[in-house]
Amino acid sequence: MTNDKLFLSALKSNPVNRIPFWYMRQAGRYLPEYMERRKTAGSFLDLCYSPDFAVEVTLQPLKRYQMDAAILFSDILVVPQALGQHLEFRQGEGPVLTPVDTANKINGLSMEGFHEHLAPVYETVNRLGAAIPETTTLIGFAGAPWTVATYMVQGHGSPDQAAARSLAFQEEDVFQGLMDLLVKATSEYLIKQIEKGAEVIQLFDTWAGNLPDDQFRKWAIEPVKKIIENIRVNHPDIPIIGFPRGAGCRYPEYIRATGVTAVSIDTTLPLDWVRDHIQPLCPVQGNLDPLLLVAGGPQMEKRVLEILDCLSGGPFIFNLGHGIVPQTPPEHVARVSEIVREYQIK
Ligand code: CP3
Repeated sequence: MTNDKLFLSALKSNPVNRIPFWYMRQAGRYLPEYMERRKTAGSFLDLCYSPDFAVEVTLQPLKRYQMDAAILFSDILVVPQALGQHLEFRQGEGPVLTPVDTANKINGLSMEGFHEHLAPVYETVNRLGAAIPETTTLIGFAGAPWTVATYMVQGHGSPDQAAARSLAFQEEDVFQGLMDLLVKATSEYLIKQIEKGAEVIQLFDTWAGNLPDDQFRKWAIEPVKKIIENIRVNHPDIPIIGFPRGAGCRYPEYIRATGVTAVSIDTTLPLDWVRDHIQPLCPVQGNLDPLLLVAGGPQMEKRVLEILDCLSGGPFIFNLGHGIVPQTPPEHVARVSEIVREYQIK
């Protein structure tokens, strides 16, 4: 055993005496104290850009469940906003942006004022380093360029990301220009987070799974590979977790080609396949279905143990396969946390 924090040990494939855990979207609407703070802050974006509130909200789940990692409270869409795109979060509707779907509109985005806009986020990261418990690891994050671009081009979420996929087919050069800008912006954004104290980075590629394989290489692998190269120039050892959600059998190629340290796996991957084909390549994080966390009871408990039994033999971090949803009963999060914390590694 080393003196490393548990989560960092797992990310280095070092031995651990229990399985570390945290949950994607661990801060958010399922917590009454979050709803209370969002009301006084004004809106979700007001929370993201107020270091006082963002620190408080980041800490809320840790106080209840003592996860091994804290994730910066922010959103992947602050990056397009910092590039000059209009962004709102409407109640019950999710994010709404003014679509950038032509060469002209994409050329209208710029990095001028980018870091000034994001200064409150950097300040939040800086303060979190001192605010979290000593044994807890601080995760910084960004959206991967493909996922961020799907929202930028379409102007809102969509089940099929049709606007971005069409632009990439019909005007590849224009789309490439947007992706190049996102690679540059995201690299700089993450480097600043690391300089301010983020100890691990996670790149969320929520919509990677919907790309055909040649497009997956071009838009999910290539940009992430470049971002990781850019970060590693000055931060060669920073652990970077990739989450190419829905990538299925392409996970191994993604791991080899991008140079990620670890991957977050979604709910669909068979556990024994993950054990045999992914864990030999890198540490794995995942993958309880967030809706089972809503359901609770014996079904949830059985699955938590199945995941632990299958994956705790290799480098593993317990997590969900996607983010916590608002209707999740906090007691279920408490129960899963207890099971994971008490689990004896065989
Ligand atoms: O995990 C954490 O606790 C850290 C904070 C975090 C948020 N969003 C806060 C949030 C992180 C890491 C994200 C990532 C994010 N944001 C992703 C990638 C991961 C994923 O969930 O797929 C995406 C696609 C977004 C964009 C986004 N933000 C959408 C589509 C929505 C609306 C849907 C929804 O859940 O409301 C958001 C809003 C959002 N981001 C909320 C939170 C806490 C809810 C805002 C509120 O309080 O109303």
